[in-house]
Amino acid sequence: MAEYDYDVLVIGAGPGGYVAAIRAAQLGLKTACADGRETLGGTCLNVGCIPSKALLHGSEKFDEVRNGTFDLYGIKTGPVTLDLTAMQAQKLDSVKSLTGGIEFLFKKNKVTWLKGYAAFEDAHSVTVAGQKVTARNIVIATGSSVTPLPGVTVDNDAGVIVDSTGGLALNRVPEHMVVIGGGVIGLELGSVWRRLGAKVTVVEFLDQLLPGMDGDVRKEAAKIFKKQGMDLKLSTKVTGVAVDGGKATLTVEPSKGGEASTIEADCVLVAIGRRPYVDGLGLDKIGLEVNARGQVETDHDFRTKIDGVWAVGDVIPGPMLAHKAEDEGIAVAENIAGLTGIVNHDLIPGVVYTFPEFAGVGLTEEAAKEKGEIKVGKFPMLANSRAKTNHEPDGFVKVISDAKTDRVLGVWCIASVAGTMIAQATQAMEFGATSEDIAYTCHAHPTHAEALKEAAMAVTGKPIHM
Ligand code: FAD
Ligand code: NAI
Repeated sequence: MAEYDYDVLVIGAGPGGYVAAIRAAQLGLKTACADGRETLGGTCLNVGCIPSKALLHGSEKFDEVRNGTFDLYGIKTGPVTLDLTAMQAQKLDSVKSLTGGIEFLFKKNKVTWLKGYAAFEDAHSVTVAGQKVTARNIVIATGSSVTPLPGVTVDNDAGVIVDSTGGLALNRVPEHMVVIGGGVIGLELGSVWRRLGAKVTVVEFLDQLLPGMDGDVRKEAAKIFKKQGMDLKLSTKVTGVAVDGGKATLTVEPSKGGEASTIEADCVLVAIGRRPYVDGLGLDKIGLEVNARGQVETDHDFRTKIDGVWAVGDVIPGPMLAHKAEDEGIAVAENIAGLTGIVNHDLIPGVVYTFPEFAGVGLTEEAAKEKGEIKVGKFPMLANSRAKTNHEPDGFVKVISDAKTDRVLGVWCIASVAGTMIAQATQAMEFGATSEDIAYTCHAHPTHAEALKEAAMAVTGKPIHM
C-alpha cells in the first residue's frame, strides 16, 4: 500500500476548505491545507462576507445618525462627519481577528498550513511552493473569482472601475457610483456607499433585482431601494465604459436593444457574478474536466470522477455561499473518514444583508406553483409589534406550503433581521414542518419572528394581527 505524507490534503482555505481540514483533523486524519494567501479564510474572510458586513454595519450606524433616526428616540447629535480611514481600519481589524482565528484553529487541531498555491502532479500528489506533497485524499476547495465584463478593465488600485475587492477598499466616498449588476454584491456594496454619501445608480440587465429570489421579494426590493434613493436602471445593459482620468463614461442601452445613452460616474462597480476558480490547479494532469459552467462536478458524497479527489464549495455546482461551502466541508471530511456526510441542497438559505435584510429558503412561489398546488400566507412587518416599535415598517414574511399536505415548501422574509429569522424557517423545513406546525409553535413576544408565525397562520387565512 502506498505511503502518503497526509491522509487528507485540502486545496484552498476558504469556508469550504478550512472547515473540511479542521473536521478531517478532528476525525483523526493527518491533514494539511494549502493556500497561497497571506491569511487563511479565503474569499469570505478576506475580501467577501466579513469585510462587506463590517462596512454594512458601520455605514448603517452612520446613516442612522445622519438621517434622523436618532431624533425619533429623542437623541440629539451634533454635526456628523465620516472618518472613512477609521471605518476601513475597523473593517481590517475584524478581518484580521477572524483570519487569525482560523490560524489558531489550525494549530489547535494540528492542521498543517502549506503556504502556497497547489498544482496537481497526479491524483495523489501536488506541488506547493516548490515542494511535492502527497496525500491519500485531495479535496479541491479553490472557490471562485469575479466574472469579468468583456471590454471593461477593472483596476482596483486606481479605484475608478472596481470589482467587489476594490469596492470594499475605496479610500474616498464616490460622488456617483454606478453599479453594474443588481445582485447581492451590487446591492450590499451599493448600500454601503449610498449610506456614506454617494449617489448610486444600479444598472441591471434583467427586469428585476436579485435573480433567484421570490418574485414578490424582488418587486419589493426594487421599491425599497428606490425609496432609499438608489437610481435603478432595470432591463438595461452596459455596452462599454470609457475612462478618462478619474471619470468614467458608461454607454448603456435597453437589454433588448434600442437607443444608447451615457452615464457619467467617478466610480464603477462591476458585480455581474462570480465563476469557479481552477486556474493553475493542473486539472489536466489528473484528467479532470470542468463542466460548461466551469464547475468541478461531484457526486452526492463530493467525490469527483477521479478516485481520491473530492471537491466542495464555490468550485462545484450550487449557490456560491459560505455556509453551503462550510456544510460541504464538514460532509466531505466525514465521508473521507468513512462516516456519512450529507448536505441538503434543497434547503440552503440565502440572505442579502442590506437594510432591511432579504432572506429566503426553499422554493420561490413561482417554482412551487410549477410543481403543484400551493397555499400562500403573507404577513406584513408593518403589523408586527416589534418592527413597528423599532420604526422598521418595510417588508413581509411569506410562507408557501403544499396545498394537500401543508408541508412548507418555501419561506421568504424582508425584515431588519430577516437573516436571523430564516434560520428558524430552515430548521422547521429540515424537520418537514407544515405551516400548521409553525403556526402552533409558541413564539416569544415581542419579536420579529412572530411575523413568521402569523404568516404561517395566514396560510389557512387566520392571522390574528391583520
Ligand atoms: P473561497 O472562499 O473562494 O476560498 C478559496 C481559496 O482557495 C482562496 O483563499 C484561494 O486563495 C485558494 N486557492 C485557489 N486556488 C488555489 C490553489 N491552486 N492552491 C491553493 N489555494 C488555492 N457568502 C455568504 O454566504 N454570505 C455573505 O455574506 C457573503 N458575502 C460575500 C461578499 C462578497 C464581496 C463576496 C465576493 C462573496 C461573498 N460571499 C458570501 C460568498 C462567499 O465568500 C463564498 O461563497 C465562499 O467564500 C466560498 O468558499 P470556498 O471555500 O468555496 O472558496
Ligand atoms: P449575482 O449573480 O448575485 O448578481 C449579478 C447580477 O448582475 C444579476 O442580477 C445579473 O442579472 C446581472 N448582470 C449580469 N450581467 C450583466 C450585465 N452585463 N449588465 C448588467 N447586469 C448584469 O452576482 P454578484 O452580485 O456579483 O455576487 C456573486 C456571488 O457572490 C453571489 O451569487 C453570491 O453567491 C455571492 N455573494 C453572497 C452574498 C450574501 O450571501 N449575502 C453577498 C455577496 C456575494
